[in-house]
Amino acid sequence: MPKKLAAVILAAGQGTRMKSQLPKVLHPVAGRPMLSHVVKTAGTLGALPIVPVIGHGAEQVRQVLAEEPVTFALQEEQLGTGHALLCAEDSLKGFTGDLLLLCGDVPLLRETTLRELLQHHQKTAASVTILTAQMQDPTGYGRIIRGENGVERIVEEKDASRSERQVDEINTGIYVFRAPEAFEFLRGLDNSNAQGEYYLTDIVAAARKAGERIEALLIDTAAEAMGINDRVQLAEAGALMRQRINEGHQRAGVTLVDPATTYIEPDVVIGSDSLLHPNVHLRGKTTIGSGCEIEPGVVVTDCSIADQVHLKPGSVLSESSLGDACAVGPMAHLRPGTVLNGNNKIGNFVETKKAVFGEKSQASHLTYIGDASLGKNVNIGCGTITCNYDGVNKHQTTIGDDVFVGSDTQFVAPVTIGRGSLIGAGSTITKDVPEDALAITRAEQKNVAGWAIRNRQKLQKQKK
Ligand code: UD1
Ligand code: MG
Repeated sequence: MPKKLAAVILAAGQGTRMKSQLPKVLHPVAGRPMLSHVVKTAGTLGALPIVPVIGHGAEQVRQVLAEEPVTFALQEEQLGTGHALLCAEDSLKGFTGDLLLLCGDVPLLRETTLRELLQHHQKTAASVTILTAQMQDPTGYGRIIRGENGVERIVEEKDASRSERQVDEINTGIYVFRAPEAFEFLRGLDNSNAQGEYYLTDIVAAARKAGERIEALLIDTAAEAMGINDRVQLAEAGALMRQRINEGHQRAGVTLVDPATTYIEPDVVIGSDSLLHPNVHLRGKTTIGSGCEIEPGVVVTDCSIADQVHLKPGSVLSESSLGDACAVGPMAHLRPGTVLNGNNKIGNFVETKKAVFGEKSQASHLTYIGDASLGKNVNIGCGTITCNYDGVNKHQTTIGDDVFVGSDTQFVAPVTIGRGSLIGAGSTITKDVPEDALAITRAEQKNVAGWAIRNRQKLQKQKK
């Protein structure tokens, strides 16, 4: 039986170098707050409970993570990383097992790396196992000081001697401890150091002194352990995360013409043989089926898209659902509540909102369809507008199967158009139309012979 696992995520610091009103751990990486990435990773490892220690901007953090399966601990004053872990003690009452310590600002760490760390900890029966990395430039990090019998202590940059600063093996700030034993060591720590803080790192020397075993596992890819302190690192981490997500889709059979300019958020699902052109953004809980083509400049947020759908350049879609073989755009705007049941064509400069299109219905040019329900095989002519809003309330337009709507029609809602009917171009429809009828509201055309000649002569005379 695997040992029980709990996770504590340090996330109380201010993140001064971000120069932001937003708490550092809420800044998004690939569209998701960095702290949520860490919570998700802890979740996939089966950690329970997951305890983020929050302090700076605590209320905001609580709100953003309200849906996540976490137990928050509050560190009211940020007295150091050791003090922060102590603040989680109450949330872990009665827990005995492996305690994984993560940082809210280290979002790239992979589940597989942490599994290795946990395995190493269990195999060696260590009291503390530190995840370490070799850095070309270790400036700013705590250094791992090894002696004849392995790791002896961690020394912070600010407290390190000249020779200690030469050490290039650094503390990633990620560890596994034994609980509740770790809290005993923490209570013994003091803050007599360069920063006047209670250092979590001092737990190593304390455990060592008590005769406990300390282990360190050197990570292969140091970039994974990168901590985010400023917006330059935020962008770097975003690029790395994006690359990881994109490669996952590529390996699963999705073509990305230019991965460097393809922006896919972590929860997005894409079927095989779909083709993404450059500068496509797929956000939120979007799903895309197989064999779809998504052209440049398309932004899709929280949509469900079936197979063989073609999204043409510059189209923006949100909270919409598209059936098989639809074609949308270029430059179409599908707003929340749009449902295309399949084989629909939505052309350029068409805007839809709360609009259901039955199969094979289409609106090919310059149209607004809002608060509307269309049957099958409806053809909406160029320039059609549903006048759905009277300044106070929204009203519904209902159009039956096989209706042909001539260009430049306005439907003044609420209005119902019977199946099989035809609306003459340029009509303003204010009353219901029966099935199979022609509705036309245009004034009759009158041609006055020779009128234009007479008019020109009159104007020339006035000029002289
Ligand atoms: C820490 C480690 C250092 C390591 C580095 C890796 C200590 C003393 N040093 O240094 O050895 O190389 O991380 O990135 O632990 N936090 C709190 N409450 C506090 C202080 C910090 O929650 O009172 C949180 C921060 O929000 C952050 C994490 O702990 O998520 C690390 O704190 P930070 O101040 O960045 O520590 P470093 O100086 O980077
Ligand atoms: Mg840091």
